[in-house]
Amino acid sequence: MQLAPGMKRILVAYATREGHTEAIADHLAERLSTQGHIVTLMNVANLDPFEDGPNRFDCAIFAASVHLGRHEPEMISFVRAHLRELAETPTGFLSVSLAETTVEDPAAPEDKREKAKHDVALAIQHFIEDTGWLPSRTKPIAGALAYTKYGFIVRFALKMIARSAGVSTDTSCDHVYTNWRVLDAFVDDVVATAHGGHYHAPSQPPAARAVS
Ligand SMILES: Cc1cc2nc3c(=O)[nH]c(=O)nc-3n(C[C@H](O)[C@H](O)[C@H](O)COP(=O)(O)O)c2cc1C
Repeated sequence: MQLAPGMKRILVAYATREGHTEAIADHLAERLSTQGHIVTLMNVANLDPFEDGPNRFDCAIFAASVHLGRHEPEMISFVRAHLRELAETPTGFLSVSLAETTVEDPAAPEDKREKAKHDVALAIQHFIEDTGWLPSRTKPIAGALAYTKYGFIVRFALKMIARSAGVSTDTSCDHVYTNWRVLDAFVDDVVATAHGGHYHAPSQPPAARAVS
């Protein structure tokens, strides 16, 4: 199919536990479609976006949330199974976590922000080590507290974590901390810099590569 100038075939693939990363992926898919791109939206737990071959997409955005310091196992399995295709595709990886909320909170004490920054970087480092994949670009994204979706014990544990992190302990509703403007700007940049032709995957050792 002949694409209009500027139009791209974009994959938005995600893995989620409580649904916020799905909301992020839905938002991105709708926004990119409105911009005129051809968007494929997929939950990697259900479907394999690379089933029909690696050349279907001009670029791919992947999003996965963090639980207990690790990204969703479905995203790790998907990436492990598709390292060759991923090496041929410009990619943006969104790491969705609560720790990033503290990093982005200007009112948070400096020591808490530093600790949160360390936790975010460590989770991403684990993801790179667990998968052997270095995305073209990586962006930590502040997630959400889905108190109404948690069972009693998880709600209690998250309330304790939230208190220590300086985010809301009001368990009567959910709280979204995602900065949509920052998210959109990052994805726009990934899409704008993705071009046709041969793609060179980044080759720096993971530890030496800064998160941008
Ligand atoms: C049981 C549990 C464990 C979590 N562990 C972490 C964690 O280790 N680090 C972190 O930054 N956020 C953690 N979070 C917060 C999630 O990353 C955040 O709620 C995110 O928005 C979840 O996205 P999802 O709804 O797409 O799964 C945890 C949340 C839950 C419920």
